[in-house]
Amino acid sequence: MGRAERSNSEIRVVLVGVGAIGREIARLLLKKRGVKIVGAVDSAPNKIGMDLGEAIGLKEKLGVTICGSISELNVRGDVAIHATTSFLEKAYPQIIELVERGFNVISTCEELSYPYIVSEELSKKIDKLAKKHNVAVLGTGINPGFLMDTLVITLTAACQEIKRIIVERVIDAAKRRLPFQLKIGAGLSPDEFREKIFRYEITGHVGLKQSIAIIADALNIKLDGIYEEPIEPIITEKEVKSAFVTVKPGFVSGLSQKAHGILDGEPFITLIFRAQIGAQKEYDSIFIDGEPQINERIEPCIHGDAGTAAIIVNSIPRVLCMKPGLKTMKDMQIPSAIMGEMRKPCKNRDA
Ligand SMILES: NC(=O)c1ccc[n+]([C@@H]2O[C@H](COP(=O)([O-])OP(=O)(O)OC[C@H]3O[C@@H](n4cnc5c(N)ncnc54)[C@H](OP(=O)(O)O)[C@@H]3O)[C@@H](O)[C@H]2O)c1
Repeated sequence: MGRAERSNSEIRVVLVGVGAIGREIARLLLKKRGVKIVGAVDSAPNKIGMDLGEAIGLKEKLGVTICGSISELNVRGDVAIHATTSFLEKAYPQIIELVERGFNVISTCEELSYPYIVSEELSKKIDKLAKKHNVAVLGTGINPGFLMDTLVITLTAACQEIKRIIVERVIDAAKRRLPFQLKIGAGLSPDEFREKIFRYEITGHVGLKQSIAIIADALNIKLDGIYEEPIEPIITEKEVKSAFVTVKPGFVSGLSQKAHGILDGEPFITLIFRAQIGAQKEYDSIFIDGEPQINERIEPCIHGDAGTAAIIVNSIPRVLCMKPGLKTMKDMQIPSAIMGEMRKPCKNRDA
């Protein structure tokens, strides 16, 4: 069902990817009014054929059977929530298939949050196809998607001048889902960590470059380039543990990443991301050196998994009101929590 056929009835959602984040999103959707999950897809053999209710840990069935591929979905709907991969190249055929079937797409794919810096060609193809099918495609989440980009952009609205932006996210990975703890290398030896990073077997956090690009785009500046420093392991001196992993002294409890948006040969935007099991302090900070100066700090940091589910779900009515095409968070009306009915009739498409 394209946006032209939209009415005030319930929003029909399909989930593509019922992993840790897809499940969190499903549980949140079930608490909301005006929205219904009508289909689910996951390629993991142990999930195919399962009822979605069981897959997300409910006692009752939801009457939605998880199918193994998008082509097997036999329902129509307004929005597909896509949570299968961090990488544009992998997400691309899935997004295309969903768009061709008339779904607006909201994805947690980090690279999709600003895909132009990964592949201009694939981005243009998604944009063209989305316009043809009268739907919008948005990549978002807590980060990239909010904390290190949208929130920064919003704060710059109070600035007359900006000399430098420094954003830092420091988190205790023990509070995060298993796939997150795995991708930051928790529990590995330093050698194993470097080997796995080198072989792309673990990725660390994906999206710092996208966050920088979204900010630069919103501020209407053309950066000389975006430079990401090599990912560094954090080695623990004392034993630390999570529900999934125990890290002995001398082993890797997490990682540290840094990226810079370069302007006139100097770092103009710097993003610092540190995630480790047992981090003593957790915070999200945004420092804008400008006129006026802004020093914002959220402590402890916002929980990434809960926050991602919220941003995805809260974006649904906004995305249904956006002009068709490939969009980024800077194109979207300022997001907020949706406390009432989800369905908002929007006669005029905004962004
Ligand atoms: N932007 C953000 O702020 C943000 C926040 C959180 C997560 N994310 C990203 O969102 C993605 C999902 O996270 P997660 O923790 O839920 O990962 P996950 O637990 O690995 O779940 C992904 C699920 O998708 C399935 N899948 C893979 N390819 C598929 C396909 N073509 N069709 C249908 N299902 C497919 C996987 O099955 P298999 O296991 O068989 O592959 C798995 O069950 C990750 O890339 C993560 O980095 C982004």
